[in-house]
Amino acid sequence: MKNMQRRDFIIGSLTSLGSLAFLNGRCDTVSPALDDEIKNASELNSVAYNVAVLGDTHYDTAPETVYHAHYDESNIHSKIQHAEFRRNGEMWRERCPRLLASSAALAHENKTDFILQLGDIIQGDCDHIPTHQKMLDDCIKMLKKPYPDNMPFLTVVGNHDFRGKGARKAYFDFAHPFMTKEIETLTGKKNEKPVEYPIVSFRKGPDLWIFCDFEKANLNKICDIIDADGAARHVFIVTHGPFTTYANTKSYRWRLGGGVRALKSRQRLFDTLSKRRGIVLSGHTHSTTYYRFENSLGSFCEFTGNSVWTERSPLTAIPDSSTPEQYIPAERLLKTVRNKEDFHSEINFFKPSLKKYYETRAAGHYRLKVSENSVEMEFYLCDARTPDRVFKLK
Ligand SMILES: [Fe+2]
Repeated sequence: MKNMQRRDFIIGSLTSLGSLAFLNGRCDTVSPALDDEIKNASELNSVAYNVAVLGDTHYDTAPETVYHAHYDESNIHSKIQHAEFRRNGEMWRERCPRLLASSAALAHENKTDFILQLGDIIQGDCDHIPTHQKMLDDCIKMLKKPYPDNMPFLTVVGNHDFRGKGARKAYFDFAHPFMTKEIETLTGKKNEKPVEYPIVSFRKGPDLWIFCDFEKANLNKICDIIDADGAARHVFIVTHGPFTTYANTKSYRWRLGGGVRALKSRQRLFDTLSKRRGIVLSGHTHSTTYYRFENSLGSFCEFTGNSVWTERSPLTAIPDSSTPEQYIPAERLLKTVRNKEDFHSEINFFKPSLKKYYETRAAGHYRLKVSENSVEMEFYLCDARTPDRVFKLK
């Protein structure tokens, strides 16, 4: 708050000094005092900023022939996938454009530095490289359009983004130059070399941002990047699959570092995040979920976003679960777990340190508010323009 007041004061001062300079016919020169004010203002602007956040979006459109004319019907999951195409076409006809418009309206009204999308930006399943490329291209143009001109748009790779024949190459051929350009616009610096997954990291002012391919990123390498930048003010990890095991009794290992061999490095990342009070931002589960962990080393939070606003999505944000005790799935769900020992070993790694927990299937859009001493995530239910609740991430 203190910084915001100081910044507001400086913007006010700049306006009046600028007017004076103009009245005196000196609008082409800047006095030393004004020069100092500009420097201070830009420093303060770089330390406090907002980010417009979207969860999974699964962009698609009806009829299915637009992006799925080449879809391979021999796919064993074809029944489920056709249901997803119908769900996406229906939600992107009218409902998700309204959600997007609300997110963009907030970005117009408040100073916002960039848009962050948490992966599964498209549905995929084109089975045809030019169509997959077109789906990505159409999607990015459509998502960027309502926001202020030239606002950088960052997205992290999700499992749907390269689903389909030839789609992995099509996605990364698009994502590497696209992310390089958007990060350069955001930071105002030319990258020494183009960014490349599985781990993309950069500094935005005083903050360290790390984007991970959640199925490929090595957790020790993520820790090395964090340890090498001890001066970073805030540490953000963006990963489509969450770091925290989630209450899905089938895909609970489909997460960042979910392999059985990653136990040591998982502990290292957990400790590193605790010590640095890091923040993990994820998608994948189609839920809005908040985890706060505390242990003897410190604390950290993970936040999962969801913008898949289907006709079945709840229209209230009353949480399905809201206490750490409810992190363990209900008995009826536990019965469906094949390897109970493995599932409990996953849950029991996180549970003892879990101090706050909130989970709802509700969709929406979000705004990350970053300042010197705090990071908060505002949750806007569906297409709301006032926040339903605010989660303290740091
Ligand atoms: Fe998804």
